[in-house]
Amino acid sequence: MMVVVVVFSDFAEEEKMELERLKMHKETLLEDIEKLKNQIENVMADIQGFKSAEDNKIQEREKRFSSGKKKFNMDPKKGVKYLVENELLDWKAEPVAEFLYKEEGLNKTAIGEFLGEREEMNLLILKAFVDLHEFSHLNLVQALRQFLWSFRLPGEAQKIDRMMEAFATRYCNCIPGVFQSTDTCYILSFAIIMLNTSLHNPNVKDKTTLERFISMNRGINNGSDLPDDLLTNLYNSIRNEPFKIPEDDGNDLTHTFFNPDREGWLLKLGGRVKTWKRRWFILTDNCLYYFEYTTDKEPRGIIPLENLCVREVSFPRKPYCLELYNPNSRGQRIKACKTETDGRVVEGKHQSYTICAAAAEERDDWIESIRASITKDPFYDLVSIRKKKVINKTPE
Ligand SMILES: *[C@@H]1O[C@H](CO)[C@@H](O)[C@H](O)[C@H]1NC(C)=O
Ligand SMILES: *[C@@H]1O[C@H](CO)[C@@H](O)[C@H](O)[C@H]1NC(C)=O
Ligand SMILES: *[C@@H]1O[C@H](CO)[C@@H](O)[C@H](O)[C@H]1NC(C)=O
Repeated sequence: MMVVVVVFSDFAEEEKMELERLKMHKETLLEDIEKLKNQIENVMADIQGFKSAEDNKIQEREKRFSSGKKKFNMDPKKGVKYLVENELLDWKAEPVAEFLYKEEGLNKTAIGEFLGEREEMNLLILKAFVDLHEFSHLNLVQALRQFLWSFRLPGEAQKIDRMMEAFATRYCNCIPGVFQSTDTCYILSFAIIMLNTSLHNPNVKDKTTLERFISMNRGINNGSDLPDDLLTNLYNSIRNEPFKIPEDDGNDLTHTFFNPDREGWLLKLGGRVKTWKRRWFILTDNCLYYFEYTTDKEPRGIIPLENLCVREVSFPRKPYCLELYNPNSRGQRIKACKTETDGRVVEGKHQSYTICAAAAEERDDWIESIRASITKDPFYDLVSIRKKKVINKTPE
């Protein structure tokens, strides 16, 4: 009996110790769990912080991207510069072209302005941009509709020339075999744009007929004629549906084409006293006006451009000049007028006008605009040079 009691009490003693151990073990475990919980919480907080920093970064990026787009719409060059500097756009032709072609919310006038720049990179971007257009399976009118909708053609003849050249090259690559030369495609594209104006502009009374359209385009395929049914299809397509251009402000492209207006600071050489004066020049309505200040209401002088010619000249210290002269009566005064300091309007005293720009490109742009204003039709020259080239080819 005693034994049993002892054994029982020993057992109880052992059990107690075991219980004690278990208790301690439990406490350590609980402590460990607590520590782990804390650690997990810390890690979670870190993750959370990291995530929101990431979210912030993304939001920040989106904000800068949209502000870059806004800048682009106001000043395309500045906008692109901003996007590139903020690493939101890669300064390579393809990604920039893709941005211009696909990004929503860009002003198409701004796109046209950017694509028209003469810098080497812009030329590469223009090519990449045109190459993003897929013209396979499209006739020339459909392709032009697509192309002319992707941006607004800028106003200057040389820019339009480059863009239409790029278009014609791309079209001939997409659809080989229709035209013998890109010039053919270029000439026909202009003919189509002019046809659009003729048929749809209410101010044009003399509507081009199909027969005239066909005869206008005789021989442009390296000396041979394009198939009548091809021309008929294009004609009908335009007749049934006018060309749409973005930002159409009522002035169709023909107006854009024939709108050589320009203004800016230039230096003008005096007629009698040979000094250079800085003047604000405005070219409009086939006249060149110059002002002392941009805010002046009355010009200091007016030079009607009728019968005048313009050419490049240069002086030792003024390399970027242009000269207005009358080719038919050299040595005679050019008909023009100027306001004397006392307010009297007198006849000009120039046999020729020498005007100086700050840079070669600026001079060229002025010469081009003045020439366009004088001839009224800068595209006549551009197209007619190509026409001569392809019409005099002997047919294959
Ligand atoms: C795009 O820019 C042109 C020229 O700055 C402006 O006349 C035109 O209203 C703008 N278009 C839109 C949709 O903002
Ligand atoms: C057509 O003429 C252009 C030059 O005007 C030339 O480059 C082209 O090779 C000619 N095409 C063919 C098929 O002869
Ligand atoms: C086509 O003509 C219409 C009507 O004159 C004009 O609104 C549109 O801008 C023209 N399209 C082109 C590409 O000239």
